[in-house]
Amino acid sequence: MPATLEHYWLPFTPNRDFKREPRVFSRAAGLYYYDTAGRPILDAVSGLFATAAGHGREEIARAVYEQLLELDFTSSFYRAHPLAFEAASRVAGLLPAGLDRVFLVNSGSEAVDTAIKIALAWHRARGDGQRKLLISRERAYHGVNLGGTALGGLINNRRAFAGVLPAVAHLRHTWRADNIFSRGQPEAGGEELAHDLQRLIDLHGAENIAAVFIEPVAGSTGVLVPPKGYLERVRAICDQHGLLLVFDEVICGFGRTGKAFAAQTFGVRPDILTMAKAITNGAQPMGAVAVDRRIHDDILAAAPDEAIEFFHGYTWSGHPAACAASVAALDLYAYEDLFARGEALAPHFAEGLHAFADLPAVADIRSIGLLGAIELKPAGGPGKRGYAVQKALFDAGLHIKSTGDALIFAPALVSGQAHLDEAFSILRRVLSALR
Ligand SMILES: Cc1ncc(COP(=O)(O)O)c(C=O)c1O
Repeated sequence: MPATLEHYWLPFTPNRDFKREPRVFSRAAGLYYYDTAGRPILDAVSGLFATAAGHGREEIARAVYEQLLELDFTSSFYRAHPLAFEAASRVAGLLPAGLDRVFLVNSGSEAVDTAIKIALAWHRARGDGQRKLLISRERAYHGVNLGGTALGGLINNRRAFAGVLPAVAHLRHTWRADNIFSRGQPEAGGEELAHDLQRLIDLHGAENIAAVFIEPVAGSTGVLVPPKGYLERVRAICDQHGLLLVFDEVICGFGRTGKAFAAQTFGVRPDILTMAKAITNGAQPMGAVAVDRRIHDDILAAAPDEAIEFFHGYTWSGHPAACAASVAALDLYAYEDLFARGEALAPHFAEGLHAFADLPAVADIRSIGLLGAIELKPAGGPGKRGYAVQKALFDAGLHIKSTGDALIFAPALVSGQAHLDEAFSILRRVLSALR
């Protein structure tokens, strides 16, 4: 192994295998990455659900550059800068009414852990501080900080860290065998699966539960679209028992499911909503937590004037370069009407993806908006085939994400039908070889 590969410990990567056979991008433009030999590789997952407007957008690069010359850094503790207000207002403008107090962070993981603290702080501010239990779901991914790890429902992400984490009870995941090959929201099981929440409330007592964390579409686990009626019923049960509902829209946000946020796609309004990734089109690390005005106001009102109301924040909360990238990205999304374009492209995406149902190696296909997954039948052990296919696709010129045996697709909202067709043609070549 060349010495230059040695020092970098890659995240979420089989490092030894990677370093035997590194797959390295050196450049990106539009819908393509280029490897170190200059070979184009079509990006069918927006990098990692981030580059909704495609790669190398000059408007964003320029905004970041100019901002760094104008004001490179300021503390966000006791200080602020104009673009932080602007970024927060712009994000609030995309959200359902009243979900408009925005706390800025640097990643999805930080957004989730911040949301946990806001939920706990709110109950405490209202004299309900015994509400500490959190509820999430099997197969959930809520990032890798300690709170998010505890909420998570993917065993490999939790196994090594059990025991040091806060109390979390898990609902069932929403995959059901009777819903396979559904396009959009599956028909079966919404009411029944949501009833799990009532059962956990009956078991633990509503007076002990702070909040329910849900990815409206569970993304990283392989795109589990909520069955019809599920989110509505979860919302109703939360309301009945005074639980906060948190939507983790780190993947779903910014047009991925057809509307600006999945809250709008599904017509269900959470109390708190986390986001990251496409908030800057991937160009700067940034996340945000949008909070219902009444939650924000209660937390502030519970502290004396001139006291810090919420003891939380990061050195890089609201970093000027990240805010500049975000405002520029949100400008692009608006000028180019990207959410509507993504929604218009979704039927072509679904058509192409679901056409793979004819292949013998395919076990299930799921999709909504420009988010979808092909689940392969395992071969040689869980996840082995998914990993091998992901590598073979890269070698054939296609970048996707795999989780276990699910191949995950989230093309940029600026994609044309021809880009999708090119991705599907590479995919067919590779998947047709599987038995
Ligand atoms: C739903 C969800 N929440 C949180 C995260 C964590 O985000 P980050 O990797 O930016 O910390 C992710 C990342 O994929 C995610 O999909």
